[in-house]
Amino acid sequence: MADANHPSDYDADAYEREVGTAVSLDTGDHVGDGGLPERFENPGLPAHQPRMADLDDGAAKRAERQVATLFGISVVGTLGFLVAYFAVPTDARMFFPGLGDVSTSNFLLGVTLALSLLGIGAGAIHWAKTLMPDVEEIELRHPMRSAPEDREKFGDIVLGGGETAQLTRRPLLKYSMGGALGLFAIPLLVQLVGSLGPFDQPFRRLATTFWDGHEVDGDGNPIFVRPRLMRDPQNTPVRPEEVPIGSVFHIQPEGLLDLESHILEEKAKASVVLMRLNPSDFVSEKARDWGYEGIVAYSKICTHVGCPVGLYEQHTHHLLCPCHQSTFDVTDDCKVIFGPAKRALPQLKITVDDEGYLVADQPFQEPVGPSFWERERL
Ligand code: FES
Repeated sequence: MADANHPSDYDADAYEREVGTAVSLDTGDHVGDGGLPERFENPGLPAHQPRMADLDDGAAKRAERQVATLFGISVVGTLGFLVAYFAVPTDARMFFPGLGDVSTSNFLLGVTLALSLLGIGAGAIHWAKTLMPDVEEIELRHPMRSAPEDREKFGDIVLGGGETAQLTRRPLLKYSMGGALGLFAIPLLVQLVGSLGPFDQPFRRLATTFWDGHEVDGDGNPIFVRPRLMRDPQNTPVRPEEVPIGSVFHIQPEGLLDLESHILEEKAKASVVLMRLNPSDFVSEKARDWGYEGIVAYSKICTHVGCPVGLYEQHTHHLLCPCHQSTFDVTDDCKVIFGPAKRALPQLKITVDDEGYLVADQPFQEPVGPSFWERERL
């Protein structure tokens, strides 16, 4: 065969046999010798290949049932999501091979929602590939604004879309897709209403900390047990004489590490910083009275957006949040003296127990951390 890359060996007949009637770079209208042709011939569309469902009504029926089954799987997934949302406790755990110990609720919600989405997606794709018309449509270039008759035609196409998609001929598809898409909206609404609305009452969780007590009475109210102040992370109790003036301790409530789950969530609300000042340094009487011999405890959770207020300047008695530099005055109820925070850090009233260890004398009297919508209701 001639080598087309080699000008001296070029064989035009062989080349035409090889590439058919397509215009080669060396033929057609030339712009000067060896230039590109001014236009290429339109190669046209590949011939339409009829599918099984186009030729056989039985195959079309089978495809219709397959699509309906996929939409049905989506419905099952959605109903499973609702059951998992309402019936599975959020603190339940399970073992899943490859993932290890996981939250049962999160796992089931994820799996069922994935099933719900997968059913709709797979059903729509299978429908398009087997039953919807697969004829290529050609639209020639035209001025940006369509001609009035084209616009009218477009309206007809849209209105006739249901007919083209065989919705009227195949009501099973219409109802199964309607059911799948209609039910799919429910989990979204349930999450919105359930997480923000009155059912979940997130303000209760935001308003209390582990210092309120982990056990609850018959009315569901926490039982306060004067928990000890424990060093974080050693988890050992603290005696007043172990806290010299100028020192700072990171504290967590007694019993927090005994929790079987949600330790980090509880710790993120209950963390406290403990400092000792000379009692005469206090500006606020309340700050001094809620402490013990100059030792005071404040929430470590910044009231701006919740970073840990971990820096203590012992000469100025200032607590500093490293995130956005909010600064709190320990001598004056930890009021904000600089930065974007708008509220003082809540103080934990402390005393000592019979064995001489520091304990909380009462829970926090206001919610810790950043503000939230329902804060005014407490
Ligand atoms: S989170 Fe503390 S200053 Fe922003």
